[in-house]
Amino acid sequence: MLVLGLESSCDETAAAVVEDGVVLANLVRSQVDLHCQYGGVVPEIASRAHLEAIDLITSQALAKAGRSLADLDGLAVTQGPGLVGALLVALNFAKGLSLSTGLPLTGVNHLKAHALAPFLTACKDGAPLPSPSFPLVALVVSGGHTNLYLLKGYLDFQLLGRTRDDAAGEAFDKLAKLMGLGYPGGKVIEELARQGDPTAFKLTRPMLHEGLDFSFSGLKTQCLNLYKTQVESQGPESPLRAHLAAGFQAAVVDVLVTKLMVAVKETKACGAVLAGGVAANGPLRQAAQEALEARGLSIFVPPLAWCVDNGAMIAGVGARQLAVGENLLGPEAEAYPRWPV
Ligand code: KG4
Ligand code: ZN
Repeated sequence: MLVLGLESSCDETAAAVVEDGVVLANLVRSQVDLHCQYGGVVPEIASRAHLEAIDLITSQALAKAGRSLADLDGLAVTQGPGLVGALLVALNFAKGLSLSTGLPLTGVNHLKAHALAPFLTACKDGAPLPSPSFPLVALVVSGGHTNLYLLKGYLDFQLLGRTRDDAAGEAFDKLAKLMGLGYPGGKVIEELARQGDPTAFKLTRPMLHEGLDFSFSGLKTQCLNLYKTQVESQGPESPLRAHLAAGFQAAVVDVLVTKLMVAVKETKACGAVLAGGVAANGPLRQAAQEALEARGLSIFVPPLAWCVDNGAMIAGVGARQLAVGENLLGPEAEAYPRWPV
């Protein structure tokens, strides 16, 4: 099945063409340059930039895949969760395409799409599609969410745990902003942490042994206070900056991987999925991989380009939904800014 996937839930406008799980084209136009001066995503600016980009990026994705609208079997679009004004851009554009071509359109949950991103393949290396055994536990960690799911099948999700306050990516972003490292924060904190000693500061591991919910705001506040009281005055060359970044990252990774493993054990899962923007983090990928492999279980982690927001993951889930007629959208379809899986 050949599907066009469109995504505009936050600050990336994305379009992709996927055929039977093989990614033929996956284009992402990031708005980071527009938002970084504000230290976070400005919803109005995001919507306007999506509007300017969506038409062209869709044509470019089709051209790159060597296909036309007439070749497609269906359309998929992120229906939520996300910023409502941003979501509406791709949703309305997709509705227009569906009306004008007669192609079926399905609305995809962005978090499900992150969780299933590892089950795509890139055509260029011809790697076979992963064929996982279920159940799996999926940890979806992004700028807006930190959720643990039990996956009993590709479209069968059950929420096991979620963050009670900040998402893990949000905590990375807020610490980076305070340290003057810009937006988004995950990648820069990871780079700074490479020169740091993660044990130099004694940092909290919030709710480490309390169920499957997460909390990152206490750790974030602890780091912000340490920065203000002990680090900032030492100047930009102080090694304490790297120590704080390394300590923060180690604490986040520790909490995420510990809870992932508890969930895997409790549910007797065959393995785990690690996905979402924060899954681009090297130490997190490594720690999760080592923990799963030590138990002889499989771990599925998407390549870096499919961790951050993209259209391929939307098309991938969209194809599965279209195949069973799930959540087909008509002209009256609405965006769901809050849409629990
Ligand atoms: O999934 P995503 O692209 O957008 C949302 O749906 O939120 O995730 C973006 C988040 C940001 O908070 C960003 O700081 C974080 O992912 N992120 C990282 C890394 N790369 C991106 N966090 C930690 N380490 C990274 N290397
Ligand atoms: Zn995302």
